[in-house]
Amino acid sequence: MKDYSLLFADSVRNLKPSGIRRFFSIAEEMEDVISLGVGEPDYMTPLPARQAGIASLEAGQTKYTANAGIAELRAEVCNYLDRRFGMRYTADQCVITVGGSEAIDLCIRTFVNPGDEVLIPEPSFVAYDAITRLVGGVPVSLVTKEEDEFRLSPQALKAAITPKTKLLVFPYPSNPTGGVMRKEHLEEIADVLRGTDIMVLSDEIYAELTYGDTHHVSFSTIEGMYDRTVVVNGFSKAYAMTGWRLGYAVGPEEVIALMNRIHQYVLMCASTTAQRAALVALQECDEDIEIMRADYDSRRRMVVDRLNAMGLHCFDPQGAFYVFPSIQSTGMNSQEFCERLVQEKRVAVVPGDAFGDCGDGFVRICYCYSVEHLTEALNRMEEFLKSL
Ligand SMILES: Cc1ncc(COP(=O)(O)O)c(C=O)c1O
Repeated sequence: MKDYSLLFADSVRNLKPSGIRRFFSIAEEMEDVISLGVGEPDYMTPLPARQAGIASLEAGQTKYTANAGIAELRAEVCNYLDRRFGMRYTADQCVITVGGSEAIDLCIRTFVNPGDEVLIPEPSFVAYDAITRLVGGVPVSLVTKEEDEFRLSPQALKAAITPKTKLLVFPYPSNPTGGVMRKEHLEEIADVLRGTDIMVLSDEIYAELTYGDTHHVSFSTIEGMYDRTVVVNGFSKAYAMTGWRLGYAVGPEEVIALMNRIHQYVLMCASTTAQRAALVALQECDEDIEIMRADYDSRRRMVVDRLNAMGLHCFDPQGAFYVFPSIQSTGMNSQEFCERLVQEKRVAVVPGDAFGDCGDGFVRICYCYSVEHLTEALNRMEEFLKSL
């Protein structure tokens, strides 16, 4: 057997497996496990979008598209961003990618040289840190706290900036915390960035999923921030299109052109079928977004109420579809809590430290499951807590 370990690139050899995956491989080996772990809508893609995908295949649209994506789709993305969030972009400032995931990768690769520092508010989505490491960058964790509703504080940002800081990842609404940042909070962050050359990757994939009186404000719309911000978004969450693998980035034309150059070599273009479906999603499915959002909202309230009632304190998340309760009252750490919960009650939730060390003491619960599923899982969690 060949010893591959000596052949692997250092950046890949040193890449840690995702904490989410590691935990789910334990859960997968057991029977009757109820999972609250996977961050994807339980809805099907809206019918008009599915039909458009099918129709495009039947019409023989099975070839590559332009690298940056179908021109009509890029124009429609810009219409959509303006209509929903008042963001002003033209088709030349948009690249269609294979999920928001690819857009994150392209953006980090476009800016980060080996040794450059990338500021990442944590707990957060696992890809930013990993991709930064893959390109030889240095991830710098900015700890966010429950008492601040997991918002990035301008003081923490200011304290972390060094001459090597290249990029700030701005991941709101947040996976895993459900935290959001309102306009006044964005202004405070912008104040710190003004006068620096730091670029911003604003991951707004959950922009459509905000609750109560919170309406998403894009970081790019804050005065002076347009020229330094790349906005990542996609179809997975808002349109329940995870499996279609389609996303996009918008930003300054020069930046998008360079991101597109990487995309050209690595992917050529995103799926033609998915692009055709997404075009119709943008044109015809605003109402579907609202139906799903309202439904997530009622599940959110149910889950938050029940968790607090059973003694797992959680702040009221205003975005995405996750709740991030503290499990500190149990005296266990996140890994121990999750392992015992799955072994003793067959409920899988994700340990908070999968999203950065500062997530220890919390777990992530995803509420985009049916009410019956959620109720059964919460009942079991309650029994678990009573048994301690
Ligand atoms: C914060 C965040 N950004 C980006 C993504 C990537 O989504 P996709 O590649 O499906 O568009 C996810 C998926 O879970 C996410 O939670």
